[in-house]
Amino acid sequence: MDSPNSARFHLVDPGRHPGNTVGRGTAALRKAPKCEFIMSTLRESFGHDPVMVDEIVDTFAPVPHGVVVDATLGGAGHTAKLLERYEWMTILGIDRDAMAIEHARSLASRFGERLMVQQGAFDRIPEYLAARGIERISGALFDLGISSPQVDLAERGFSYRSAGPLDMRMDTTQRLSADDVVNGYDVDRLSDVIRQHSDERFARRIAQAIVAARPIRDTAELAAVVAAAIPAPARRTGGNPAKRTFQAIRIEVNNELNMLPGALEDAINATAVGGRVAVLSYHSGEDRIVKSVFAAAESRRQSAEASPFLHPSSERTFARRVRAAKRPSNVELNRNPRAASARLRVLERVGA
Ligand SMILES: C[S@@+](CC[C@H](N)C(=O)[O-])C[C@H]1O[C@@H](n2cnc3c(N)ncnc32)[C@H](O)[C@@H]1O
Repeated sequence: MDSPNSARFHLVDPGRHPGNTVGRGTAALRKAPKCEFIMSTLRESFGHDPVMVDEIVDTFAPVPHGVVVDATLGGAGHTAKLLERYEWMTILGIDRDAMAIEHARSLASRFGERLMVQQGAFDRIPEYLAARGIERISGALFDLGISSPQVDLAERGFSYRSAGPLDMRMDTTQRLSADDVVNGYDVDRLSDVIRQHSDERFARRIAQAIVAARPIRDTAELAAVVAAAIPAPARRTGGNPAKRTFQAIRIEVNNELNMLPGALEDAINATAVGGRVAVLSYHSGEDRIVKSVFAAAESRRQSAEASPFLHPSSERTFARRVRAAKRPSNVELNRNPRAASARLRVLERVGA
């Protein structure tokens, strides 16, 4: 199955893309009427089942009152639950995706000024906070990867299940798309991307098959080429054979792993003492980064700058892990199999 990282969003199926708009490039998304149709569909039918939502809500119960950054707003499922539960909370919701932002703006009547919305990538958190005069935050939430509406719309090109353009851009104004990676990277580069971003065993064979099949015109063709490159016995295990390669190409297109460490550090540094940073990750590459940034923050000593009352030589840690990584419950997995690979890690700024 496709594995978007938030849970289920119930979308009206927009149907198969007409033949002349499936294919190379991303022209389909630039067509205004189609875009408006998608936007209005999303406005009307976003329904959310955010991953580990009770655990996320509980995570923010003890934090100092103020602003929480939702760095991956998506369908605002977590944000809505947090705002409903904590009257004192204001959320700055960030997303690169215009559809997510559009949807969040439609929630203004429900939450008013308690929900601030920012379109952009989460590697600019300090800038977004400074622009609003926010010095310290109560914490931050990162629910990594893509959302179900992004996957469920074939037009976005994230899905190996339906024919769509080779796109996969979260921010549809950026230049690099899946088409550039699939039809443009040389075999060595493509093979590295697939191996590094998905631990795919057959990365080189897949890269060679993709290069030999060029030009590849849409996601259905790509999925078929990938499946055929994987030896038959391996193809029969572990779900759709194209899943890992699609994940790897998506990560490459959106530069997902490169911006994560800096963004996490920025969020931790902006968090007030007693505040928390929570991260939901969905594959080993993401989780390795989260673990290593959290471990570095834990081993850091509180600086005089972070706490002016502390003697610089004092041995005080900067942050602590709230608990070991947590997985969704079986009840949640039965309801929402898309949450299967989720792992929640939480870090807390330590008090003086
Ligand atoms: C898993 S979804 C979040 C779902 C959300 N928590 C909810 O409950 O509806 C991830 C979202 O983060 C966005 N995203 C991913 N990487 C991002 C980045 N580097 N900067 C900003 N947004 C990003 C995606 O566009 C997507 O909408």
